[in-house]
Amino acid sequence: MRNLTEENTTDVVLNAWSKNPDPRFKEIMDAMITHLHEFVREVQLTEDEWGAAIKYLHACADISSPERSEFILTSDVLGVSSLVDTINNRRPDGATENSVLGPFYIAEAGELGEVPVIQNGDDLIGERNKDGVPSYVRGMVRDAAGNPIAGAALDFWQNAPNGLYDVQEPENGYNLRCMIMTGADGRFAFTTTKPLPYTIPLDGPVAVMMKRAKRNVWRPAHLHVRIEAAGYETLTTELFIDGDEYLDDDAVFGVKDSLVLKWELNDSAEDAEKVGIWAPFCDIENDIVLHPVASAEAAE
Ligand SMILES: [Fe+2]
Repeated sequence: MRNLTEENTTDVVLNAWSKNPDPRFKEIMDAMITHLHEFVREVQLTEDEWGAAIKYLHACADISSPERSEFILTSDVLGVSSLVDTINNRRPDGATENSVLGPFYIAEAGELGEVPVIQNGDDLIGERNKDGVPSYVRGMVRDAAGNPIAGAALDFWQNAPNGLYDVQEPENGYNLRCMIMTGADGRFAFTTTKPLPYTIPLDGPVAVMMKRAKRNVWRPAHLHVRIEAAGYETLTTELFIDGDEYLDDDAVFGVKDSLVLKWELNDSAEDAEKVGIWAPFCDIENDIVLHPVASAEAAE
């Protein structure tokens, strides 16, 4: 492998990688090398531009931590997260659609302690979040035929009235984050605050890139939820608010029409009192429709 030229570089490099015994790994590497080389040729990448790209990756690494990944955010704002999510979660009409996980989900308990498991009807607002618009969120986890799904674990997270997620102010623990397990009726219900639109983190290289390209850095308000239930595909999605000014310009491309809900205000003090909050409040009822895993579907 000597005397590489503009014309033979890709073939020589592919040949050097050709002994890969793992067919899928080889397929991915070959396609990545081919597309990267073609990209470099197409834009006639300069040395300064290549250097800037490397500097960008270093800046992402420098600002990333277990609670914050600038690499996930890069994938999000380039639409790669959304595309991977869509390709891997094709579902029939009627099943709730997936949306991006986003950078603020911590799967591990970490230093914050355990995610609080709440009971139906419990409150997440408390004293800390009382400046927000109180909201009653409820629904049923069910299959497409309407049968309730018992034993589903729902994991909710959202931002607070100050616009921040729990991981952005860990001193407050798991603020506005909870898990609920469904019983035989498949129902879930809790009180929380109406989420707010927010910007992607503005102190990192992603924001610098976005601003230079004159891209919107805001996300429409949403409530994140992830649901696991035996026999069903795990669902990761977001519930958006109709009328939000950023629905058509989401910085990370997560919005789907079926996930946009009306968070209309209910003025009834009596209704609010029944669920332990105050009027006016948003009353959100939305069923989560899970799709069986392929093996369970085949067995039906
Ligand atoms: Fe979010």
